[in-house]
Amino acid sequence: MSDIHALVDGPGPGIAALPPRARFDTDAEEIALDGDWRFALHERASHAPEGPVRGASTIPVPAHWQLHGHGRPAYTNVTYPFPVDPPHVPDANPVGDYQRDVELPDIADRQVLLRFDGIDNSAEVWFNGERIGTTKGSRNTHEFDVTARARAGMNDLRVRVVQWSATSYLEDQDMWWLSGIFRPVHVLLRSAQSIDDLRIDADYDPTTGDGLLRVDVESASPGARIRIAELDVDAAAGDQLRIPGVRPWSAEDPVLYPLVVETAGERATVRIGFRRVEIADAQILVNGIPVLFRGANRHDHHPERGRAVTKQDMRDDLLLMKRSNINAIRTSHYPPQPYLLDLADELGFWVIDEADFETHGFSEVGERSNPVDDPAWRDALVDRVQRMVARDRNHPSILMWSLGNESGAGCNLADMREAALELDRSRPIHYERDYTFRHSDVFSLMYVDHERLEKIGRFEPVTLPRHAVILSDEGELSGLDDKPFILCEYAHAMGTGPGGLEEYQELFRRYPRLQGGFIWEWFEHGIAQDVGDKRTGYAYGGDFGEPVHDGNFVADGVVAADRTGRPALADLTQVFRPVDIRVGVDAITITNWQERSDTGRFGFVVRTVQLDGSTITRPIDVPAIAPGEETVVPFQTPADASVVTVSAVTADDAAWAPAGHEVAWGERLVRRPDPAPSSGGDWRVTRDGVANGGVRIQGPTLGVWRAPTDNDLATRMVYLGGTSEARAWDELALHTPIARSIDRGADGPLVRRTHWGFPGRDVGFDESIRFSYEGGELRIDARFGPVGPWDPAATVPRIGLDWVIPEGGSSTRVRWFGRGFRQAYPDTGSGARVGWFGGTVGDLQEHYLRPQENGLRADVSILEIELEEGRLVLSGEPFAFTLRPWTDAELADAAHPHELSDETGRLVLSVNARVHGVGTAACGPGVLPQHRLHPQEAGLSLRWAVSER
Ligand code: GAL
Repeated sequence: MSDIHALVDGPGPGIAALPPRARFDTDAEEIALDGDWRFALHERASHAPEGPVRGASTIPVPAHWQLHGHGRPAYTNVTYPFPVDPPHVPDANPVGDYQRDVELPDIADRQVLLRFDGIDNSAEVWFNGERIGTTKGSRNTHEFDVTARARAGMNDLRVRVVQWSATSYLEDQDMWWLSGIFRPVHVLLRSAQSIDDLRIDADYDPTTGDGLLRVDVESASPGARIRIAELDVDAAAGDQLRIPGVRPWSAEDPVLYPLVVETAGERATVRIGFRRVEIADAQILVNGIPVLFRGANRHDHHPERGRAVTKQDMRDDLLLMKRSNINAIRTSHYPPQPYLLDLADELGFWVIDEADFETHGFSEVGERSNPVDDPAWRDALVDRVQRMVARDRNHPSILMWSLGNESGAGCNLADMREAALELDRSRPIHYERDYTFRHSDVFSLMYVDHERLEKIGRFEPVTLPRHAVILSDEGELSGLDDKPFILCEYAHAMGTGPGGLEEYQELFRRYPRLQGGFIWEWFEHGIAQDVGDKRTGYAYGGDFGEPVHDGNFVADGVVAADRTGRPALADLTQVFRPVDIRVGVDAITITNWQERSDTGRFGFVVRTVQLDGSTITRPIDVPAIAPGEETVVPFQTPADASVVTVSAVTADDAAWAPAGHEVAWGERLVRRPDPAPSSGGDWRVTRDGVANGGVRIQGPTLGVWRAPTDNDLATRMVYLGGTSEARAWDELALHTPIARSIDRGADGPLVRRTHWGFPGRDVGFDESIRFSYEGGELRIDARFGPVGPWDPAATVPRIGLDWVIPEGGSSTRVRWFGRGFRQAYPDTGSGARVGWFGGTVGDLQEHYLRPQENGLRADVSILEIELEEGRLVLSGEPFAFTLRPWTDAELADAAHPHELSDETGRLVLSVNARVHGVGTAACGPGVLPQHRLHPQEAGLSLRWAVSER
């Protein structure tokens, strides 16, 4: 009989699984059970029939049933989508019944194991009609011994999966609720002499360069041997070996040695890396050298597959990470698909492996009954830590274990920590949400602002902010001076942003105690949806009709769900650069920011864009620079240079990028080019705009508003009772500027003075615009000044002029000289360089899942727009522009990108003198003071021209 109650209600771990053990490649036979399984979904556990799966429906394994037409995905961040009534869950608890035939060869004398790498949420396993055991812990591997029931030929495997169980309380990570057998299932056929477990301690002694190796093998067969051909090792398992002259493993140089372990019944291969992690003087050292995490939080996610990611998905991800100068991964917030760690070993990433544990939703009920502090849950929590450590401890990439995420503080943490240490004393432990940090070897916080971070760097006391994620009372953190500091999450990449990345990195570089951080997060978790017209949209919370949800908070990654990099990824790549390059008038200064390698693996290339637009590229010789050192290379700026860019590129093919891949760049703008001479007719200033022949431009009107970004809206802050900049701008009604002419014509017909106010408000801007003609060009000199009793703290999103060109759309072509190709706000855009860029208006838009201000191109001195009647050229003192087929208001009103139509027959151009930064207030600090725009004097000096194509 199926025991649904035991499956659903118990706060304990699963039943009857084998003790957790390491994953390794083996010559023992493995049968993958991927493919279609028979499947039936029952709406309620109490209605699920006993016995075989009826009906003809099938579902692929691994997969989530909600992504295969059964039920619907649902997204909540903190809030449980069911009453907080632990360990109980609602009656409306869908049950997925899976069944398939498993054909086995002759199994005489062999042991038959079933291995499940991930089932969300809890499952009962049946083999040949008998209930074998249960799995609890969605992202933990469970193995069952079914030898006694297995037979050669056909066998019957059934798995009953419940969508909700007591353990759902332990798995409140900020992600889609998705169910089913979503990681691979295997049958393992082993002999009595097989390897039961394998434990590899591959330590590295940085003072001697020796590897200290010990491999312990658990097996019924005595006399296991180990071999490493490359190091001439052939020894008995269990021996403590000292191996001179090994090359240590690091994220920079991931040297792996294939190790073969052999018993009478099994031959395993593991790629090992020698390295030592220790904490000394408030620093994490690897092989005696401090590390700087240039990290990202990574979930398993794919827009069609959810968390059922393929090996190719993972490889693609990690290659892109590596190419983006990311050197560290926190496996937020559960042990990843096991293959990911093989890739991390191979490609070189420092990893924080995190247990499958988050009870964030209890913070919404005053932490009452939080499992972290209730002994009834102890075994389940300890089980989660043990399953992670035992599976993953042989991976050199893992530097730390994390006990979980955002689960509060309580009595079970001590046992969880102890459980990890019992299995592995070679790594420090991380846990962020107990602010005594007694269970953590590192001091770790999330979303801390720059000011506090600097204090931490200086070992000064800090008080916790009562900000987005830290809900404890403000209190001083003390007694942590022996601990290194990391930001386990920072730079929340939701929508346009994150702002302030450079400033964080600067602090990481300046204070040795600050060992970097992990950006939140790698992916946006959009789910692909057909939105008609053969277009794909990406769903976020609420799009599946969920009654409770957290909207687009699920989309806060530097990589869009379709796996294209957001502008933030280009910024991050440059901020995380391993080499710093400064281009001067007659010298190039290069600093090696790597920790342990010289620059010998990079070549350097100078690319000069001449004033006529042509480019010259040539390599330069740079002697190898030792880690942390700097060198100055003499260099003569060519006479007609406009921009000089020096890039560091990979010299040879690497496992993660072909030779020639750019890892860093520095540039100098020598001289801006002149715009093409005007060849159009004469300009006229009309009542509602300006015109030249067939070219008409409406405006300008004052532009001081933008479609609020997620950061402007500061979703989490507002939810916590704070306010947001967007709300303040709304209150000032900045989106509705209303004009009143002041002494029109007093200074001649071509000078307009206007007072701009906002409905119901007594603050505004005075604007004066002088139009003049010069050689077929229309000159516009505009000045703006705030008037009225502005609050000195008030900010405005921008100060500029808005125009409407009544033709064109997404396919209209543009070209500009300025920063590009991607967007750049005052506190973003590290990845945007200076030069000529071109594309269509459509290419200028950044389609965040929820439409918002985006696409600003900064530092622009020439903008060309190809209209039917000719090429419209705007030039002048550097300005920042956006160009879209829709207005700010239309952008703000849309809930999804596909709601905005591309060919509107109209272009809206905003030309800004000044712009407010974007910050990261969606979860974290807002715009830094130096990037804030307060109402202030500003000016724009522009020229319109029409030139021949
Ligand atoms: C943290 C959390 C993450 C994510 C992030 C905001 O509170 O650990 O899982 O929710 O904030 O996107």
